[in-house]
Amino acid sequence: MAITFEKLKNSHFPLLLKWLMTSHVRAWWDSNIAWTPELIEEKYSQYVKGYKRLNLISGIIEKPMHAYIILKDEKEIGYIQYYNKQDFPSEYGYNASDLPTNLAAIDWYIGEPEYLRLGIGSGALNLFLEKYVFKDFDAVFVDPDAKNIGAIRTYEKADFIQKKTLNGVIWMLKNKT
Ligand SMILES: CC(C)(COP(=O)(O)OP(=O)(O)OC[C@H]1O[C@@H](n2cnc3c(N)ncnc32)[C@H](O)[C@@H]1OP(=O)(O)O)[C@@H](O)C(=O)NCCC(=O)NCCS
Repeated sequence: MAITFEKLKNSHFPLLLKWLMTSHVRAWWDSNIAWTPELIEEKYSQYVKGYKRLNLISGIIEKPMHAYIILKDEKEIGYIQYYNKQDFPSEYGYNASDLPTNLAAIDWYIGEPEYLRLGIGSGALNLFLEKYVFKDFDAVFVDPDAKNIGAIRTYEKADFIQKKTLNGVIWMLKNKT
């Protein structure tokens, strides 16, 4: 199974637009946003440069954001990003103080429907963690919707442990081994 990753580039933006408007992704990702090429450009051109800008009461800050395209046999099939969870704790109203300090978070999807449920997601996830995330972090966090059975099953298969359920999302953690 030849899974590879490529750093996000501006030329990937039409793919992001297509995938984010696909129903199986939209069910769990930014479902309230009517994506346009302009909105994609505005959000993801920061990620191409390696950061996400946050508008806080205290001012504007920029935090590292690592964004990649997932490829299967050199065909682009999905998107994955990782970042320091502790850089964005309050964005979702979380108190992250009871989580590990050196903690990454990831968000991802397989955008091409015909590539779902073939074992590619779990394979890609493990590979991505080893190749990138665990090079920098001791643990990784995800927070699937409690109804997102496919994602939860995929994380369990990759040895994530459920920590707690809060406001309809499940906190799941995996430690570097
Ligand atoms: C989550 C996602 C990346 C999984 O990718 P995938 O390639 O389909 O997953 P896999 O084929 O590796 O499946 C892993 C396990 O989950 C199970 N699974 C996957 N999708 C499922 C679904 N919709 N319902 C039930 N089980 C599912 C598989 O059967 C497999 O378990 P098994 O080996 O015990 O049979 C993909 O479903 C996706 O992109 N979903 C939309 C976006 C999303 O939810 N992202 C995560 C947000 S937290």
